[in-house]
Amino acid sequence: MNQGPAGADEALLGAAVAVRAKAYAPASSFRVGAAVLAADGRTFAGCNVENASYGLTICAERAAVCAAVAAGARQLVAVAVATDLDEPARPCGACRQVLAEFGRGMRVLLVGRSGAVVATTLDRLLPEPFTFDDVARGRSR
Ligand code: THU
Repeated sequence: MNQGPAGADEALLGAAVAVRAKAYAPASSFRVGAAVLAADGRTFAGCNVENASYGLTICAERAAVCAAVAAGARQLVAVAVATDLDEPARPCGACRQVLAEFGRGMRVLLVGRSGAVVATTLDRLLPEPFTFDDVARGRSR
């Protein structure tokens, strides 16, 4: 039997799907919603926010991370990302790096048009992130 996501995952996915409706994507029309789950149980959502100066665009995942950090949550255990593609999109490289800052092993749940969920981990998507340990090694040379 094809099991659906467990309750907590269902809620996180629901938050990602809901915030996707708020996406500001006049340039691409590609709407993305993301929700991160903090270790303390709180959920924070974000959508992509595009700009006429295209390079200033903020991805949904990074918007969700910023909302979490602004609320004092720095340990993230899961992220859900919603698009309307048939095969769910994976977070971009920049977002993988930013997510890794707050939860190297976090679970990653991806959902697309059909509602079918792809579950993976950030370790798998970004096995060797750059970290502040690298910065410290540079300083101590
Ligand atoms: N986008 C995200 O929000 N997250 C990603 O991981 C990849 C791309 C957004 C940025 C832009 O607004 C649109 O998708 C098309 O690139």
